[in-house]
Amino acid sequence: MRIAWLTDIHLNFVSSVDERSFTHKIMAEQPDAVIITGDIGESGDVAEHLEYMANVLRCPIFFTLGNHDFYNGSIGEVRDSVRKLISQQENLIWLSDAAVIQVTESLAIVGHDSWADGRLGDYDGSCVELNDFYLIDDFAGLDRRRRLNLMQFLAEQAADHFRRTLPSAFESVDYVILATHVPPFKESCWHGSRTSNDMFLPFFSCKVVGDVLMEIMTRNPTKSLTVLCGHTHGGGEAQIRHNLKVLTGEATYGQPVIQRVLDLK
Ligand SMILES: [Fe+2]
Ligand SMILES: [Fe+2]
Repeated sequence: MRIAWLTDIHLNFVSSVDERSFTHKIMAEQPDAVIITGDIGESGDVAEHLEYMANVLRCPIFFTLGNHDFYNGSIGEVRDSVRKLISQQENLIWLSDAAVIQVTESLAIVGHDSWADGRLGDYDGSCVELNDFYLIDDFAGLDRRRRLNLMQFLAEQAADHFRRTLPSAFESVDYVILATHVPPFKESCWHGSRTSNDMFLPFFSCKVVGDVLMEIMTRNPTKSLTVLCGHTHGGGEAQIRHNLKVLTGEATYGQPVIQRVLDLK
């Protein structure tokens, strides 16, 4: 099973010529499947980019959305347009809406968009103002407390999804790849060559998902989990415990890359 992993490709910053050559570069890797961990475009074009890649690549594309995919729109509208698209495009699989996907005898994929939950670092002391708070309709006009409530509500949807899907995946397989946009642990929240500081951590990490993963992997010591995520645009690997590893993708606006091609059994 050959899986090409992409994250934070932000195709809204890429010309159609470059999008085409990037997609052909993926095709040249001859993947059996592609995983995209969010920030594909913005609300007005994310469905278009997904549809284009699905038509060219033809293999299954398992994806999650990232915060940027909702820019200049609302969360409900984007989710609706993505649901409509996946109902028409067989090889596009939005992991937030999917159950466990078993791809080989021993390997399954689960995933969810997720959201930063403000629980790591110093939310109250941070002066970081993400564009999310201005460019996503649901956040626009909310004060700091209400923003945090919405961030935690969205993060909890991811945690709930993993509470259901991950134990069920381990009933059938020994190894799971979990795709999500936001790094679930401080150690996986890379910014340059170090981890994010207390000012950025609240917006770059999702502790509630990390807690769920830690609990499930402690209960299943003979099973293995690899998390693929992005969002911080700083790349790195973090071995959280013997059976739980997180790969965070490095990204630059306007220069989409293939993070890794994973050869798995
Ligand atoms: Fe991004
Ligand atoms: Fe992001």
